[in-house]
Formats: sequence, C-alpha cells, structure tokens
Amino acid sequence: MFNPTTAIAAVILGICSSGVLASDDYTQHVHPFVGTEGAIPGSSLGGGNMFPGVALPFGAVKIGIDTSVVDLPQGGISSANSGYTPRGNSTGFSLIHISGTGGQPKYGVVSQMPLVGSIQAQGINVANNMTYLTNRTNESASVGYFRTTFDTGVTTELTASRHAGILRYHFPAAASTIKSSSNITIEADTSSVTGTSSASNTTAGTQAHVLVDLAHALPSGGGGFIAQKYVKGELHVASDYSGYSGSAYYDLGWNQGQAWQIFFCGNFSVPASVAWTFFTPYNFLVPPATAPTLSPYYDIYASDSLAIGALFTWEHNSALQLESRVGVSFLSEEKACQFVRTEVPWKQTFNETMQAVKDAWNTEILSSITVPKENGAINNTLLGLLYTHLYGSALMPTDRTGENPGWQSAEPYYDDWYTIWDIFRCTTTFYHMVFTDRYVGMLRSLIDTWRHDGYMPDGRSGNENGRTQGGSDSDNVFADAYARGLGKVSTINWHDAYSAMLTNAEQVPKRNMDFNAWDGGTKEGRNALPDWKQYGYITTNYSRSISKGVEYAQNDFGLYVVAKGLGEKSDAKKYLKRSENWKNFWNSDATADLTTAGLGVYTGFFGSRAANGSFDQSVNVTNCGGCTWGDLTYEALIWEYSFTVPHDIEALIQKMGGTVAFEARLDASFVNGLSAGSGASNTAGTCVIPPIGSCSSDPKGRALFNPGNEPSFATPFLYNYIPGKQYKSVEKTRYIVNTYYTLQNDGIPGNQDAGAMATWLLWNLIGLYPISSQPIFLVTAPFFKALDIRLGTTNPTSPASKSNMYLKIRAPKLSQQNIYVQGLNVNGKKISRSYLLHDEIANGATVIFDMGPQPSAWDLEVPPSFLSGDFTV
Ligand SMILES: *[C@@H]1O[C@H](CO)[C@@H](O)[C@H](O)[C@H]1NC(C)=O
Ligand SMILES: *[C@@H]1O[C@H](CO)[C@@H](O)[C@H](O)[C@H]1NC(C)=O
Ligand SMILES: *[C@@H]1O[C@H](CO)[C@@H](O)[C@H](O)[C@H]1NC(C)=O
Ligand SMILES: *[C@@H]1O[C@H](CO)[C@@H](O)[C@H](O)[C@H]1NC(C)=O
Ligand SMILES: *[C@@H]1O[C@H](CO)[C@@H](O)[C@H](O)[C@H]1NC(C)=O
Ligand SMILES: *[C@@H]1O[C@H](CO)[C@@H](O)[C@H](O)[C@H]1NC(C)=O
Ligand SMILES: *[C@@H]1O[C@H](CO)[C@@H](O)[C@H](O)[C@H]1NC(C)=O
Ligand SMILES: *[C@@H]1O[C@H](CO)[C@@H](O)[C@H](O)[C@H]1NC(C)=O
Ligand SMILES: *[C@@H]1O[C@H](CO)[C@@H](O)[C@H](O)[C@H]1NC(C)=O
Ligand SMILES: *[C@@H]1O[C@H](CO)[C@@H](O)[C@H](O)[C@H]1NC(C)=O
Repeated sequence: MFNPTTAIAAVILGICSSGVLASDDYTQHVHPFVGTEGAIPGSSLGGGNMFPGVALPFGAVKIGIDTSVVDLPQGGISSANSGYTPRGNSTGFSLIHISGTGGQPKYGVVSQMPLVGSIQAQGINVANNMTYLTNRTNESASVGYFRTTFDTGVTTELTASRHAGILRYHFPAAASTIKSSSNITIEADTSSVTGTSSASNTTAGTQAHVLVDLAHALPSGGGGFIAQKYVKGELHVASDYSGYSGSAYYDLGWNQGQAWQIFFCGNFSVPASVAWTFFTPYNFLVPPATAPTLSPYYDIYASDSLAIGALFTWEHNSALQLESRVGVSFLSEEKACQFVRTEVPWKQTFNETMQAVKDAWNTEILSSITVPKENGAINNTLLGLLYTHLYGSALMPTDRTGENPGWQSAEPYYDDWYTIWDIFRCTTTFYHMVFTDRYVGMLRSLIDTWRHDGYMPDGRSGNENGRTQGGSDSDNVFADAYARGLGKVSTINWHDAYSAMLTNAEQVPKRNMDFNAWDGGTKEGRNALPDWKQYGYITTNYSRSISKGVEYAQNDFGLYVVAKGLGEKSDAKKYLKRSENWKNFWNSDATADLTTAGLGVYTGFFGSRAANGSFDQSVNVTNCGGCTWGDLTYEALIWEYSFTVPHDIEALIQKMGGTVAFEARLDASFVNGLSAGSGASNTAGTCVIPPIGSCSSDPKGRALFNPGNEPSFATPFLYNYIPGKQYKSVEKTRYIVNTYYTLQNDGIPGNQDAGAMATWLLWNLIGLYPISSQPIFLVTAPFFKALDIRLGTTNPTSPASKSNMYLKIRAPKLSQQNIYVQGLNVNGKKISRSYLLHDEIANGATVIFDMGPQPSAWDLEVPPSFLSGDFTV
C-alpha cells in the first residue's frame, strides 16, 4: 500500500541489504500516486495525470475516485483527465477513466456516490453534486486496490476485473456529522408503490445511500464548446432493490467525439431497503436549483437534456459493510450483467479479485524486467521508478477486444489512443520489445480501424478518431514495427497496413470543426496535404504549419520503409524523396541570439514559409507564444522541432553548421532559463502559475529542451551522432532523469501521455533509446549493474510472458562516479558504434557496458542517416 501523505518519507533512499528482490510480488514496488500531482501542490495541473485507481493491464475498466480542485490561484477548476487530484472534493467513484493524458477531460462515467443520513436534513440535492461533494482522507493505493475515507465517515475500497468494478463501502454506525437525522426521512409519494417501502418509516437507526447519477462525468473546467457532456440515458432498478442496469450517452470531451453509449449493470451484496429514481433538467454548467422528486418508478428513460438517476437506501443500526459489483459493456446491458456474473461472481471475494489483479500485473507486465542477484545491493528508489513506470506503461491504450460497437470483426480492438503522437517516439518500440504479443494485437486493431472507419487514428477515444496533434504518426508506428522485424508476422495484414498508410499520405481528410484549430482536420489523417503536395512545405494556410511539416516528412519516411520492405519500389522512391521535404522549409537565415546568456548565435532553423517562397523573418525560434493549436508549432519551440529529423541527422548537422556548431546547439538546449515555456500544462517546473514566465527563479525550469513534452524526447541522445561524444548523451539524460523523475506525487515532469514518459524513463534505466522507424537503439548507460529484460516473442500464439529470451544488461563497474561508458560488448563482440542494431538484441543478448569515471571516446561509428547513404530504395 502506498499512502501519499506519509509514504513519500518512507520511500527509502538507501539500499536493501539483501541484494535480491524479496519475493516475486513486484507490485510492492509500484507507487500509484507518482505522477498524480502538478506544479501547484494538490492540483493535477501540469502534472502526470496518472490514474491511481484500479485496472488490469490495458484494462477496459479503470475504477477510481473523481475529484476536483476549485481553489486554484488562477481560478478555474483542476480535474485531471484521470479523475484524480491529490487534494480536493470528491463527487463519487466511476468505472471508466484514462490515464496520463492532458486536454479536456473525457470519461469518469458509470458512477456511484455513497451518502449517509438524511438526504433532506443535509440539504442534499441528488441532482446537484455541489450539495454533496466531500473532502477525503486516509487515501491509499496499491496495484489492484484503492481506499479512501470521505468526511461523511464512509470508507470505500475499490478493486476490479477487466470489465467490472467492485466498490466495498463501510458505512459508520451513526453519521456523526448529521444532526437529528433520526427524525427525518426521505419524503416521497409512496401512494403508488405496490408493496411496502420502509422509507415512510421513521426509524431509530440511520441511513446509508448509494447514489447512481447517470449525468456524472468528469468536470470540464473551461472546456467551452468541447466540454464533455451527458446526453441521455435509461435506467432499470430491480424490484427487490438488489441492483440496477441501464445505459447512457456522453459526447465531446478531449477528442471532440460524437455521442457514445455505455451500458452498465450493478448489484449490491445486500438489497437496499428501498430505492427511488429521479429526473431533472440537465445543464452541465448550471446545476438544478431545486431537488428532483424521488419517485418509485423503476423503469425510466430520459430524452436529451434530462438527467436521471437512482438513490438506493439501507436502513441500519450498526456499522454497515456493503459491496457493489458493477459491470460495463459497450454492447449491451445483458453483456454488462454477464461480466458481473463471470468476472466478479459473488462466490469470489473482494480480496481474491484484488489478488487476481496483482497476479495479472506480475505475470504479464511487471516480471518483464527483473534485477538479478549479480546487481548486488538494490537502490529502492530505482526499483520504485522501474516498477512504477513499467506499470504506467501498460494502462493505455484500452483493450476492448470483443466490445467494439462500431463494426463486427474477429480482429483485436483497442481504443483510447491518447495519442500516437505521444507514443510513437519510444513507447511502441517498448511494447514491441517487451509486450510483443499485445503489440501485434494493437497493430491489427489500428489496421481494422482504418478498414471500417476509413483512417487509422492518431488520437481515438469513445470509439471515435480524434484529435490529431500533427502528422499521421501511425505511419511511424508501422514503419518502426516493420523495420524491427514484425514484417514477418503473418497475422498482421501488411498489404492493408500499407494501404492505410497510403490513405494517410494521399487522401485529404474531411475537415472537422475544431474551435482551437481554425483549419479543422484534427480528426484524422493529414489535413495539410494539399500544401505538402503542391509546395513541398506547409504554408500558414494551415495551423501548426511548421510542426506538421516536420512530422509529415517523418511520416513519409515511414511510408518509404514499408514500401521498400513490400517491394513497392516506385513508392519507396517517391516517399523517400518526400521525406526530404523538411529541407524546403529550413530557413538558413533564422537566428537565435543567446549572447546575453553567453551562448552565442545559432543560425538555421525551421521557418514559416509563404506560398511565394518567402520566409517570415520575424518568427522567434525560442518563443512559440504558447505552442498551441493555432500556432506555428505544437507543444514545442521551433528550437526543439529543429532537432527532429531522425532519418537525416547528418544533413541536419550540416544545416546547423557542422558537428561543432551542432554540439554547441545541443549544449545550449539544456541551459535553464532560456525558454518562455510551451504552455501551461506542458512545461516542467513551476511555470504554470500565470503570468507565464513569472517562474524565472525556478532553478530547474525552462530550458529550451523540455523534459515534460514529447517533441524533444530524442534530443538529449543526439550527441551519439557526433563521434566520441556519446558521453554527453549520458550526462544530459542522467541529469534529466535525476532532476525530474522521482517517487513523489509530482515525480513526472509533464503529462504521462499514455505511457510516453514512463517508457522514456524505462529506456534510460536500461541504457538504450530507440530511434523510430529505424532498426536501431542509441546507446547511453544503464542505471543498474544488472538488469534482465524478458523479450516478447513475435509468435502471436505464444504469450510474451512465456518467452525465454532475455536481454541481459550488465555494467558491473557502474557506480555514482562510474557513469561513463568505456567500451561496449554485445554477445562477446566488441562494439564501437554509438548504437546497436535491433537484431543484435531482439532475440536475446548480453550487453556489457564497461564503465569508468572519465569520458572516453569509445564511440567511433555514428548511427545511420539519409545523407550518409544509409537509406536506399
Ligand atoms: C538511489 O537512486 C537515486 C535515483 O537515481 C539516487 O538519487 C540516490 O542517490 C541513490 N541512492 C543511493 C544510496 O545510491
Ligand atoms: C471543496 O468544496 C468546498 C465547498 O464547495 C469549497 O469551498 C472548497 O474550495 C472545495 N475544495 C477544493 C480543494 O476545491
Ligand atoms: C481535506 O482533507 C485533507 C486530508 O485529510 C486535509 O489535509 C485538508 O485539510 C482537508 N481540507 C479541508 C478544507 O478540510
Ligand atoms: C486509515 O486506514 C487504516 C487502514 O484501513 C485504518 O486502520 C485507520 O484507522 C484509518 N485511519 C483513519 C484516521 O481513518
Ligand atoms: C424527534 O421527534 C420527536 C417526536 O416527534 C420529537 O419529540 C423530538 O423533538 C424530535 N427530535 C428532534 C431533534 O427534532
Ligand atoms: C418500521 O420499521 C421497523 C423496523 O424495520 C418495522 O419493525 C416496522 O414494522 C416498520 N413500520 C412500518 C409502519 O412500516
Ligand atoms: C457536477 O455535475 C455537473 C453535471 O451535472 C458537472 O458538469 C460538474 O462538472 C460536476 N462538478 C464536479 C465538481 O464534479
Ligand atoms: C444484478 O442486477 C441485475 C440488474 O438489476 C439483475 O438483472 C441481476 O439478476 C442481478 N444479479 C445478481 C446476481 O444479483
Ligand atoms: C483481505 O486482505 C486484507 C489485506 O491483505 C486482510 O487484512 C484481510 O483480512 C483480508 N480479508 C479477508 C476476508 O480475507
Ligand atoms: C525571443 O523570445 C525569447 C523568449 O521569450 C526572448 O528572450 C527574446 O528576446 C526573443 N527574441 C526576440 C528577437 O524578440
């Protein structure tokens, strides 16, 4: 268990004496609250937005508490996309969440809220969450388990299966906060009820309630036109008050999706004494002023703009323990009920379900990386980081195989791609190496989505594509998978995969209406293709023109990789050529003058180019004015994007003036205080309190390199492209890891973004970093003396967990001082490349890092580039 308020101090910075893991229960090293807090203490703003509730690996149900913070210094409301803020009031628990993402909240639906005592005496309006929200205390979370105590005295424990959640309530004997509750009961018109209802009975005990509110969804502070909203629903209460079922629709939220439907089915361990239903006009901005009538009608539905719900009430004298088991389905109520029966039958205890969650994580995910005996003493902080982030790498996307309402198909189905823009850089390669079998399923799901919805997603949630940040980055994912050997896997239909990539590369998507991006095109595909094809760059007729151009070039390189592999020679030639388009908007005259910081002048950056070929010379490459949807670049400075041509770093080095200038520019990227930041929720440090820039005293913030966002992910590794300078990649990446990644609640420097930050950190711990779409890994230095990584198998019929292949990382001389690589040995062969080939390690390998206290120019050979002739048709 991990208690956020006390356990931080208990996270031992020292070293275990034993030297080996105490047991095979790796879940004890997972700290679910890491990454739940942002720069403003207690709020999630700018933090990892990690989900601390309960889920299976890639689980459809993510059951957790929904909380919010409204007393922020800058006003507004902070409600993480995951539903969780360390501080703040709760309005209940819900079953569907995502983990780690930014943007407008989505989900937080299928909820229950425990209430105690007299509803009326407390002035509770069951249709207005502001009348019953409550502070919490004594919260704890571990893999498979979450517990919190509301100020009303109710303690709730959560656990889950793949499609169902269990809520275990402990209602106190008497509600101490409620005065004279014994005389007041719910007033309702019972005249039409057949049978008896104890609600008209004044009892000497007290009441426990569970509120089921179909309008409950995560609050969207400032969401404006895209705030998530409840639409309509229906509800059936069992006549013996033992359960309920129904469905509801919700729309908008992060990906601006249309209304989607979810079905639910809930049961109680003890039937309620009575239950009521209610309805009221729904306006997500204005709660209803008057409380709705509680009616004894048990089969109700609502048309648009009417909220509905039910209140279940138990009369009790002594403390009451109650369990509710709720299943969810995207297909039918019947299936939702079936999930309760099959996944969490009453004969299976809460504890057994909790243990099953732990077992699943240990077996499928956490045992993938282990620290063998020869590592010697284990640093508990590192162990915590390793397993916390391994856990964080496998919460998204959501495996909804068999639960796809969009089309019928035997293919696997994954939703909640949030987003591929975030995870193509190093996350999908991690899946590939470690969770291969699942990854093959994800790729098949992406292809199937193209088959039936017309496009592969860049973002997708609520069973609908959206919201594309830049290019069509699924192209990079497939190129990476192909280049690293999955081209041989016959269950992946590579013909269709390539057709889906061609759709991305050639077909202009329909323009959607997006209030943030005036040119639309955020649903899927590449909306700026007309410019890309006509000019070979993107004019300001499109939003995010520069960052889209950077990504389109990389996407086209992805098409080249797969086209070549499939023998499509002319396509390979065409797209390799198009991947050079980045040169068309390189502005050789653009400069960044950092002389006042003692860092010189840097010339040559990506530029904003008009249709007539001229560049806008007024653009500031170190200030993007927010880097948001309508700007020239998305979520990173032009300075940062100017490093992101992974397929042609050699040409980039030339453009930047040669290796010495390139190295100086990389060095300048890591000097703090030079950036105006790239938006509130995407800058590490404390720059989120406006006015942006008021945080200049923050010692670790605002380097031009931003550890809190993905575009810069590969930049600190680029020293590997300069012979003899690999040691600087080690220095920079170690600085970032040690400065920004901790086991504190704010221990992730930005939104986790599916598993993006988690896998960036994991690669660093391993000492390798993948370059997307190329079968290589850049070499840094591991954080462990010994680490065993169980590799997945490319045989999709054999679960990855059964693989006997290990990548063994060894660095026996590693110490606090010995962080520099002196030489590298792979399977007994000395390597003087600053990179490894995928095939050198993909089928099991031993990589021995010789470590020492001084830099050594052991790395003579740099990674591939187009300019060096490494990519041919
Ligand atoms: C354990 O690792 C952390 C993170 O790298 C480091 O800060 C700390 O100094 C290490 N502790 C010891 C005793 O080596
Ligand atoms: C909790 O709710 C109360 C009452 O509405 C409000 O005054 C308080 O600011 C809320 N707390 C937080 C942290 O948002
Ligand atoms: C809410 O609960 C937390 C944890 O017990 C406590 O620290 C905080 O002071 C409480 N806030 C209010 C407004 O009571
Ligand atoms: C906190 O939870 C623990 C574990 O359930 C319990 O023993 C303890 O009494 C609780 N403390 C408070 C203050 O509720
Ligand atoms: C409760 O009801 C009884 C009987 O009607 C009355 O005598 C008593 O004053 C009431 N108590 C409170 C606290 O209102
Ligand atoms: C009121 O509840 C008590 C205890 O459950 C029961 O014995 C009694 O018959 C009920 N009275 C009425 C009028 O329903
Ligand atoms: C309360 O519920 C309304 C919908 O009825 C929702 O818009 C709002 O965000 C909720 N507030 C909180 C703090 O959860
Ligand atoms: C659970 O609740 C549903 C909906 O009310 C009902 O159909 C089903 O029979 C219940 N199952 C059990 C085991 O109580
Ligand atoms: C459930 O597990 C908890 C923690 O492991 C333990 O304290 C408790 O006794 C268990 N309860 C049952 C009924 O087995
Ligand atoms: C560019 O922006 C940076 C960061 O805000 C600022 O310090 C610098 O003065 C600007 N440069 C120009 C030429 O305006």
